[in-house]
Amino acid sequence: MAKRIFGFFLLAITTFTVLLGCCSATVHKVGDSDGWAPKEDDNWTDREEFHVGDSLVFEYDRNFNDVTQVSGGLEYEFCDSSFPKAVYNTGHDVVTLKEPGSYYFITSNHTQCTSGQKLDVLVTHDPSSPIPPPSPSKILPSGNIYKVGDSKRWSVYDSEFYYQWSKEKQFHVGDSLLFEYNNEVNDVFEISGDLEFLYCDPISPVAVHKTGHDLIKLTEPGIHYFISSEPGHCEAGLKLQVVVGPTANVPKLSPLERLTRWLNSFTFNHH
Ligand SMILES: *[C@@H]1O[C@H](CO)[C@@H](O)[C@H](O)[C@H]1NC(C)=O
Ligand SMILES: *[C@@H]1O[C@H](CO)[C@@H](O)[C@H](O)[C@H]1NC(C)=O
Repeated sequence: MAKRIFGFFLLAITTFTVLLGCCSATVHKVGDSDGWAPKEDDNWTDREEFHVGDSLVFEYDRNFNDVTQVSGGLEYEFCDSSFPKAVYNTGHDVVTLKEPGSYYFITSNHTQCTSGQKLDVLVTHDPSSPIPPPSPSKILPSGNIYKVGDSKRWSVYDSEFYYQWSKEKQFHVGDSLLFEYNNEVNDVFEISGDLEFLYCDPISPVAVHKTGHDLIKLTEPGIHYFISSEPGHCEAGLKLQVVVGPTANVPKLSPLERLTRWLNSFTFNHH
């Protein structure tokens, strides 16, 4: 039986503040002078506050370690780096905390991770900041939510089904995709490229979703790829590619302008 090692060792952190334009952002140097290394807990999480816009600096020997951001507490607890959200490996990594939420960092060097080379931080909006730092989630309009596959949800139909489903729609930054499925037989892997999509390759996903009710916000323009990692499902057509355009700019029209447009539409359609 696997020996459960509770890595209640955390990392000491020194902080200093820099001024970035209008708003102050804190740079947290992970591990003091030792850098990114196993270290005993000194309760820094109780003292430190991490706000949107702050950054973490990781310094370490890149021959033996890296900084692997994982998506959940389980991966963090068990030092599981197989589905990273992001990997940094320059030896001097600056990670900006752009969104509120929990961030989990481990090293993919398993021995080091189980001895406590891991870090979790909770990031919140700075309540004392007079002007909240701009964050994508704040400036994005709350867009449309598209239920993937509509009433058919996320399941195997035929090879064209999700292609047709997405072809008819225009997605914009700020919209969300809702994947609904039975999570005992399916999952949603977001993958990064065309080739992975073509060959149904789930080996290095950008993100993994498994709740059976996953709401995924489209925060970046470009092409986004989603597949099922279940053997055979993606090959059978359970794959979705969406093209996301920039934020929809819906012009705000006055009632009179809307009325005028409406009347014009009649004039032009009426041959
Ligand atoms: C950390 O904080 C907890 C409760 O706040 C306390 O019981 C514990 O002794 C502290 N540990 C250290 C190393 O200061
Ligand atoms: C893990 O880290 C230790 C200590 O730095 C090092 O001796 C070992 O070679 C590393 N393992 C890998 C796989 O890099």
